[in-house]
Amino acid sequence: MKEKLEQILKLAQKELSEIKTIQDVEQVRIKYLGKKGELTVVLRGMGELSSEERPLIGKMTNDVREAIGAMLENAAQLVKEQEKVTRFSKETIDVTMPGVKFDIGNKHPLTVVLDEVKDIFLGMGFKIAEGPEVDTVYYNFDALNAPKNHPSRDLSDTFYINEDILLRTQTSPVQVRTMQASKPPIKIISPGRCFRYDTPDASHSPMFHQIEGLVVDKGITMADLKGTLDIFAKQLFGFGTKTKFRPHHFPFTEPSAEVDVSCFKCQGAGCQLCKGSGWIEILGAGMVHPHVLKECNIDPEIYSGFAFGMGLDRITILKYGIDDIRLFFENDMRFIKQF
Ligand code: DAH
Repeated sequence: MKEKLEQILKLAQKELSEIKTIQDVEQVRIKYLGKKGELTVVLRGMGELSSEERPLIGKMTNDVREAIGAMLENAAQLVKEQEKVTRFSKETIDVTMPGVKFDIGNKHPLTVVLDEVKDIFLGMGFKIAEGPEVDTVYYNFDALNAPKNHPSRDLSDTFYINEDILLRTQTSPVQVRTMQASKPPIKIISPGRCFRYDTPDASHSPMFHQIEGLVVDKGITMADLKGTLDIFAKQLFGFGTKTKFRPHHFPFTEPSAEVDVSCFKCQGAGCQLCKGSGWIEILGAGMVHPHVLKECNIDPEIYSGFAFGMGLDRITILKYGIDDIRLFFENDMRFIKQF
């Protein structure tokens, strides 16, 4: 048995000197030290030994087990080192090669301006409300006091999904949704996409963006509307900016106005941007029509409100001197990266 153990040790040593991978090391371990391995077989034969021989062989078996264990560990270490060396020799890094450049995105110009507009209104205590882009005729027209024969209802102006459902043509339906879902005081802006049946050209796109505003409370007057929009214009276009309210008509406001700002390029002197007039139209606004308040279960005898709506695309075009609205939606990075 002593010879057998010596032989096992030698054989294990020999096999381990020839191994190449970590799997080979494991094979050797199983072969010699495993449950059915060579050493276990020897241990099983111990019963046949005399009582003098047994402790000697027992100790020797243990020594051999330890020796093989240590050898296995060494071999595993060696193989790992070897594998590392081979891997490193394949993975040479040429530090003189140009690096991989990661493209970091930047904000779309519409997002840049929208963020500015949001900041200004949030600073005045407004909250942000959202509404669906696919809406109903009721929210987009009826509840907003639009007469049944209003031209904007035409198939040639509005994208209809069916008789009752359409792509909203304005963000104004969010006014109705907000008033029906909450009680005054209400103070929101609502930015979002709108759609109209327009042939695309430099100043028209069938998809565009509006920002709606709505304030409803007791005692809200036209003076609040004028003050709010004046502060907004000064913050967005510069503190020298003046605002001008021109009478207009919208079905959902009475009285209604179109609001101009003094041209921020020529400060009112007259230039190409303002077409010589010194003024640039930026939004529509007015006092919420009593019919609209009633439709939303708000008593017009107690509450009043103002509303406004502006085109985000138009404001961005003006601010940056962009000459074609279609550029916003072409996703040409050469354009988008300029902002
Ligand atoms: N919805 C109007 C449009 O698309 C813009 C507008 C005008 C919104 C006056 C308003 C408003 O809330 O009071 O032309």
